Amino acid sequence: MDLKTLREALTRICSLDHFLMDEKLRTLVGRFGALPSFPALYVEVMNELAAAEPSIVRIAEIVAQDPAMTAKMLHIVNSASFGLPRRISNPLEAVQYLGTGLVRSLVLSVHVFSSFDRKVEGFSIDEFEEHALRCARLARALMESQGADTVGAEDAYIAGMLHDIGKLMLATSLPDHYQEAAACAVAHQLPLYAAETEVFGATHAGVGAYLLGLWGLPAPIVEAVAFHHTPSRSDMRSFGPPVPMQRSLTMRAN
Ligand SMILES: [Fe+2]
Ligand SMILES: [Fe+2]
Repeated sequence: MDLKTLREALTRICSLDHFLMDEKLRTLVGRFGALPSFPALYVEVMNELAAAEPSIVRIAEIVAQDPAMTAKMLHIVNSASFGLPRRISNPLEAVQYLGTGLVRSLVLSVHVFSSFDRKVEGFSIDEFEEHALRCARLARALMESQGADTVGAEDAYIAGMLHDIGKLMLATSLPDHYQEAAACAVAHQLPLYAAETEVFGATHAGVGAYLLGLWGLPAPIVEAVAFHHTPSRSDMRSFGPPVPMQRSLTMRAN
């Protein structure tokens, strides 16, 4: 990495760190009873992928430990968008078709989505998941079209999948205030994130990035989530694969 790239990467990490240290954001997160736990299955999959010779069989075995995860994986691989000529019913074949990158993203998102109550007044979790999946696919396709490597494309997929996770946290933990923000957005014709700032003092983008930062997810993912409504606040000025930056973010907040 040359000096200019290193300087850019450090500047971006500093501005992300500064964003996540915002007092109003930290106060808001402090109002949640408990934050979703980090998915242990994700760590196991990542450890296997980092092994000298990662094994697809082993990854399938790890995923198969979790029935909800296995069901979701089979549902996706058998969906029309995959266009497979026959039904897949075992985890190993599903992992082979999906690829390890997609399995990694799924392990993370299934855990995150299943951590929340599925019945929230005025909030459809099914629509939320559909939106997340569409954004994930689009983000990965955009990154691939810009020449990103596999890691960059999968980071974009995860960022797309989890970009609105803060919304889910706000809607489930502080439902009355969330309804108030949604009504305020409609009444004043504001984007939801602007109404959230009025009501909560911070936005779902900040809340989501805070959680993912706390989990130690790669910095480009946390950055994408943090600035998905305000990209001009990011110090990245080009469109395309992110400038290499330290993939692990150490948050001072915990
Ligand atoms: Fe959003
Ligand atoms: Fe969104």
